Amino acid sequence: MSQLRAFALATAIAVIASGCAPRPGEANGEHADLAGPHPGAAVYQQWCSSCHDNGQQSGAPSLAAIRTLNRATVKYALELGYMKIQAKDVPKEELAQLIDWLPSAEGTNDNWISAARCPTKIREVRLTGAPRVSTTYGVTNNGNRAQTAEETGLSRDDMKDLEVAWVAAFPQTPTMRSQPVIVGDTIFIAATDAGRLYALDTNSGCVKWSYVSDMTLRSSLSFAEATDHSPAAIIMGDAAGFVHAVDAKTGRKLWVSEARLNEYNRITGAPVVHDGKVFAPVSAIEVNYAGQDDYQCCKGQGAVVAFDLATGKKVWTGKTMEPAQPTRLGRTGTQQWGPSGAIIWSTPIVDPARNVIYAGTGENTSWPATDTSDSIIAYDMNTGDRRWVFQATKSDIWNYACGRRAANCDWPGEYHSPDHDFGATSMLIKRQDGSELVIAGQKSGVVWALNPDNGQLVWSNKVGRGSANGGVHWGMAFDGTRIFVPNNDSNRPAAPDENPAWGPGINAVNAMTGEIEWSYKNNARDCGQALPVAKASVPTPEWRIQRVTAPVLPTPRAAAPPAPPRPSLPAGTPRVTSTESAVAVRPVVATPCRLGMSPPPLLVDGAVVTGTTQGMLRIFDGKTGEVLFEYMTNREFPTTVNKVPGHGGGLDSAPYIAGDGTLFVQSGYARFGEPPGNVLIAFRPKKP
Ligand code: HEC
Repeated sequence: MSQLRAFALATAIAVIASGCAPRPGEANGEHADLAGPHPGAAVYQQWCSSCHDNGQQSGAPSLAAIRTLNRATVKYALELGYMKIQAKDVPKEELAQLIDWLPSAEGTNDNWISAARCPTKIREVRLTGAPRVSTTYGVTNNGNRAQTAEETGLSRDDMKDLEVAWVAAFPQTPTMRSQPVIVGDTIFIAATDAGRLYALDTNSGCVKWSYVSDMTLRSSLSFAEATDHSPAAIIMGDAAGFVHAVDAKTGRKLWVSEARLNEYNRITGAPVVHDGKVFAPVSAIEVNYAGQDDYQCCKGQGAVVAFDLATGKKVWTGKTMEPAQPTRLGRTGTQQWGPSGAIIWSTPIVDPARNVIYAGTGENTSWPATDTSDSIIAYDMNTGDRRWVFQATKSDIWNYACGRRAANCDWPGEYHSPDHDFGATSMLIKRQDGSELVIAGQKSGVVWALNPDNGQLVWSNKVGRGSANGGVHWGMAFDGTRIFVPNNDSNRPAAPDENPAWGPGINAVNAMTGEIEWSYKNNARDCGQALPVAKASVPTPEWRIQRVTAPVLPTPRAAAPPAPPRPSLPAGTPRVTSTESAVAVRPVVATPCRLGMSPPPLLVDGAVVTGTTQGMLRIFDGKTGEVLFEYMTNREFPTTVNKVPGHGGGLDSAPYIAGDGTLFVQSGYARFGEPPGNVLIAFRPKKP
C-alpha cells in the first residue's frame, strides 16, 4: 500500500508542469519528430486499439480522451491500476514507449490556478451560518435528491428560461464523474482524472483553494460538519480504494485511510457521513481482468467500511461475503477463486431512526453465487452487522468473460449472467401517509419498494427492459409523492408485446401504488436530428405496473457450446482475448448515438433535471412531464472563466446540482463511447 502511494507520488513529482492540455483530436503528432512517428503509436495500435478505438462496445475511453490524461494517471493505470492486466504482456520497452507517447500534455498543469484565484475579499470559504445546500450524492443522506426553491434560490418557473452565466474547464480531465457539494457560496468540485479537488466561488468560478491527490480520484463528494474533534471536511474516495478527508476551509489534507479489503478494491460511490463516522462503499476493478483465460478469477468483494471522522481510524468492515478461497480449476486449468463480487458501486443511504445504513450490491463475479449479490443490505451503524438482506436476483454470476462464455465464465450448477447490479443509489422515502420505504432501482429495469424494518417487499414495478448497461443506472429522485426513474435502456424500439413505457427516457412512478403516472421517451433529436421535442404520455392501465416477485430465479442457460480454450500466441501477436469478451457483452446499439438516461435526476422546486449520455440536459415539470428546458452540453466552450479550453460531452454518473441561484452542470464522460468533456457550466435564469 505505502509502496503504491509512494510510487504515484514520486511520479507526480517527477513530471514537470507544462501548458494547457490540447483539445482531443488535435493532439496527434504531438511527439512526432522529423525522424518519423513516435514508436508508442504502433504499440498502441497493437495492444490497445482493439478496445480503445471501439468504445461503444468495450466501454473504453477513446484514444483522444486518454491522451488528455496526465502521465502519472496513464502510468498508474498501466502499471498498477485498471489496465494492469491488459498491459502485462506488453514488453517493458514497448510499455515505456507507450507511456512516453500517450500523455499529450505532460505534468500536472496547475498553472491556471494562480490566475484564477479569488480576490482576497471573497477567497474565504464561509461555513458559519451558510446554507448546507447539497452535502452528498443524494443531496441529503436519505438519497431523495430533492432541493427546494429556498435552498437553491431557483423556482420551477426559473428553470424554463436559463442561460449560461459562466463556464469553468479543467485540464487533463476527459470525464466529469464526481457530484459536487455546495455550502453557501462555495462549490466543492473534483477533477477526478487529474487527482484535483477545488473550492470555487459559486458566483464567479474563481478558486478559493485546491487539493492535490497523489492518486486518481473517483467518487462523488460529501460534506462533514465540524465536530468537537475535527474541522468541517470534504470526504471522497479514490481509484485505489482510499478515503480522503480534506479541511473544507483550507483544502489541507486531514487524513487518507485505506478502505480496501484487498488490492482489487476502489471507491466509486460517495462515502457518507453521520454522527462522527464516515461510511465508505467499496467496489472493485476485477470484472474486466476475468476476460483473460489465464487470470485467476476472482477475489474482489464489496463492503461498507466505517471510519472515525476525527481520526480516519477504521471502526468496522461490513462485508458482503466471506473471503474468497481457491475453488476449482477452470476449463484451461487455471485456478479459480470464490465467492467474489457483490461490490458496492452506489452511495449508501442513512436511516438515523433505525440506526441503519442501506447499500445496494452488484452481481457475483465468480462461482459460487452468494445470497448477497444483486441485493439491498441493511447494516447496523454501530457494528456493521447485517440487519437484513433483500436479494432481487439470484445466482447472477457475471464478468467480462461471459460474452463468449470463456474459461472464467463456465461454472457448475444453475446460474445466469444478466449483470443486474444495484449500481444506483437507493432512497429512504416518507410517503404522503407518513409511512417509509426503501426504494431501490436495478439494472434489470425493476423498481423495488421495501419495508425498512425488515426488507420485505411492499411493491415492485418493472419500468424498463433492463440489461448489463440499461435499466436504472445511477439513481432516482423523490418529490414527496412521485419517484422519478430514469431509464438507460438501449435504443431498440419496443417489441409489439412489450411495455411501451420501456426504453430510454424517464418514468414518474406513484410512491403509494408503484404505478407509472407519466412516461417520457427520448427521441433522435438528442442525436442532432430535426425532430420536435417529444411529449410525455400517460400509459394505458395495463402498462402502468408489471409486478415482479423476488428473488428472480435463473433462467436455463442457452445450450451454446463453450468457447474452446485459446491457443497460446507467439510473442508480439496482438492479444484479442479480452477484446472479444468485452465487445460481446456490451449491447451493440443500432446507431452510434445512445439515447439512454444514465445519471440520476435532480429535483429543484419540483422541476426534474435529467441528462442523456450524449449530453442533452432536459428539465421536466414533475407533475405533468412537460419539457421546461433543453440544452445540448456536448459543444465547445472556447471562453471559460479560468482560461482553460473547455468542451462539453456526455452527461453521466452525477452531472448536476443547484445552489446560490445557479444550476451547475458538469459535462464530459469518456466511457462507453460517450463524448469526453471537461466543463462545469453555471446556468442562471435569464435576466429580463
Ligand atoms: C479489453 C479491452 C481493453 C484493452 C485491450 C485496453 N483497455 Fe484501456 N480501458 C478499457 C476500459 C473498459 C477502460 C475504462 C475503465 C473504467 O471504467 O474505469 C479503460 C481505461 C483505460 C485508461 C484510463 C484509466 C483511468 O484511470 O481513467 C487508460 C489510460 C487506458 N485504458 C490505457 C490503455 C492502454 C495504454 C492499453 C494498451 C496497453 C489499453 N488500455 C488496453 C479497456 C481496454
